[in-house]
Order: sequence, then structure tokens, then C-alpha cells
Amino acid sequence: MSKTFNILMVPGDGIGPEVMGEVAKIIDWLNETGAARFHVNHDLIGGASIDAHGVPLTDEVLKAARAADAVLLGAVGGPKWDKVAYDVRPEAGLLKIRKELGLFANLRPALVFDALVSASSLKEEIVRGLDILIVRELTGGIYFGEPRGISDAGADGQRGIDTQVYTSREIERIGRVAFDMARARGRRVCSVDKANVMASGRLWRAEMEKLHGEFKDIELSHMFVDNCAMQLVRNPKQFDVIVTDNLFGDILSDEASMLTGSLGMLPSASLGAADAAGKRPALYEPVHGSAPDIAGMGKANPLAAILSFAMCLRYSLELPALADRIESAVQDVLSAGIRTGDIAAPGEKTVSTTAMGQAVLDRLGKLMDKAA
Ligand code: IPM
Ligand code: MG
Repeated sequence: MSKTFNILMVPGDGIGPEVMGEVAKIIDWLNETGAARFHVNHDLIGGASIDAHGVPLTDEVLKAARAADAVLLGAVGGPKWDKVAYDVRPEAGLLKIRKELGLFANLRPALVFDALVSASSLKEEIVRGLDILIVRELTGGIYFGEPRGISDAGADGQRGIDTQVYTSREIERIGRVAFDMARARGRRVCSVDKANVMASGRLWRAEMEKLHGEFKDIELSHMFVDNCAMQLVRNPKQFDVIVTDNLFGDILSDEASMLTGSLGMLPSASLGAADAAGKRPALYEPVHGSAPDIAGMGKANPLAAILSFAMCLRYSLELPALADRIESAVQDVLSAGIRTGDIAAPGEKTVSTTAMGQAVLDRLGKLMDKAA
């Protein structure tokens, strides 16, 4: 029998536990049918961890994350923790796990399912067939640069400082991921920076150009981030792979999600470098946040979490056929008109989080029967 995969599941806050509950059902089902074998540990991150331990990420969870084949995360944060100290806020737990595991490559695919073209706020012809991949640098840049903080500025009051900093090595390793990804897709990389204003942007562009020498079969273009934000809504299909820094990637991926109809549809993978034994740290999370306004109401869309699990099967567990089936199941469910509120047209009937999860599972069962 095949290997047992060790999964750490950290559902987090808000709608995190609800959407991850649907992923857990799929995992249980795969275990029961013997399609694959998983051992799942559940633990806390974000506000849930603050409530239990006073910090958003404990050393024990970090250790378990390091040991796991992959981490599945729901979402962190919510108004309940607005007043906790800045360095132990829920988001700090997420940033810490990314940094500590060295998850420098964040893959955020924005794919428009045919059944959802009308859910986008853009005209159908602009988004139909859209398939872009944003490769966001995740452990550097202004999110982590020093110095940072708020200090006294005398007569001017206070001074808030964040530092945007990138080294050649950081740029090269994320560029390499983007070129590699492009090779398996449309063979085009658009590198996005602000080289007309920022020194880090000038270096970014120069390093991408240099690295391109190793990837002559891939077309490389450059774009300033303000133009890219505009082009994403003007003509998003011009893009294949977009590679960009931590902050720009954060912003552009939220923008790109709306092309697909809903933030509730976007999965993500965060990958580190493989060690000598070939083990690569990885964390998978839906791009949507904790959505406290609908938490606990059974309204959340679990598809981004389910699609993130499919990415886990593909990138960490080497089960691409299973990943394909889950993605097909999602596609079929959407084609059958099953909708959570975020992707429903006005007046259209909607289903709950669990009903959506069950629909995917039912469909998956049929696809597996057919394949068997
Ligand atoms: C994301 C989120 C996080 C980020 C927050 C929650 C810290 O917006 O994953 O895009 O800014 O990276
Ligand atoms: Mg974000």
C-alpha cells in the first residue's frame, strides 16, 4: 500500500474551521476508500491560538509544521483580536509560519470556470477562459525588511518605518520558480516591479533579465505595478505567469481574484526550497481571509480551500491524477449550478458550506467509480 502522508491542519479563525471541515471530509473519504492514506493532526493558529496560548503560533505547532508533509491552513484574524499587541496579532502567526518554514514562493492561480463567467464583475468576453498564475515572493520585501516600527520624531510627532529590501538571491530564486511554472503552462512570464521609482525594483528587473538567460524558451516581459493593476482589469488574458514581490503580489492577487468571480474561489500554495532529502516545506491556504461577517453561518464557499488541497496533492504529495479529479469535481459542481452566496447571481438559489462540500464529494465519488 502507498505511503501515509502526514498533514497538519490549522483551520484558524472565522470561516477557516468551516471551510477546512469540508477538506477534512474529503480526506476522510480518501482514507476510507483507500484512494490515498493520510494521517491528519489538527492544531491552532491565529486568534484561536492567542485565545488558548497567548500567542498566534506556538513552537509546538511550528515544529509539527516542519515535520508534516504539508500544512493546510484556513484563515486567520478577526475583530475579536483587534486590540491584542501588534507583534502577537493573528496575522503575525501566519507571517511567522511562512518565514520560519522558508515558504518564499506563493502560487496564486486565478482561473475562470466557464460556469462562473457571469459571476465576475467584468464583461464575460474579458474573463472567459482566463488562466493566470501569480507567483508572489512571500518571505522578503517590505513585509519583513528592517528597520521597521514606529518611533519618536520630535516636533514632527512620530515616524512609521517599513523597509522594502530584496537581495539578488531572493529575486533569483522566485524568478526561477516563475520560469519553471511558465514552462509547464503558456511559456510567458511578466515580471512586475516599480523600477521607475524604487531601487529594489531596479535590482528586481536586472536580476530577472539576467536569469532569463537560462530560460530562453520563455518569453519575459516587464511591467510597472500600476500599469499591471490597470491591465489586469483591461485585458487580463494577456498574462500567463506574473512574478512579483510580496506587497505587490498581495494586492494584485486580490484584484485577480475578482476576475474569477469571487475571492471564495482562489486557492494558493506556499512552497519552500527542497532539502537534501528532497523534502519541500509547503503550506496551502485559500486566499480569502477569515470573513468574520459570515463566520459560523454556514455561508462560506469551501471551494478555495478544496482547490488548495488539490494543489497540495499536486505539489507536495505527487498525486496529480487525484488533484485533477478534485478539480474536475469542482468544475462539474459549478456546471450543475450549485452555488454558495458569493458566486450566485442575484435571485439564484444558494447552498450552505456543507452542502457545497458534499456536492464536491458526491461528484468525486462518481469520478472515482468511473476511473476504477
Ligand atoms: C494574504 C493576506 C496576508 C498577507 C495577511 C492576512 C497577513 O492578505 O495572504 O494575502 O498580507 O500576506
Ligand atoms: Mg492578501
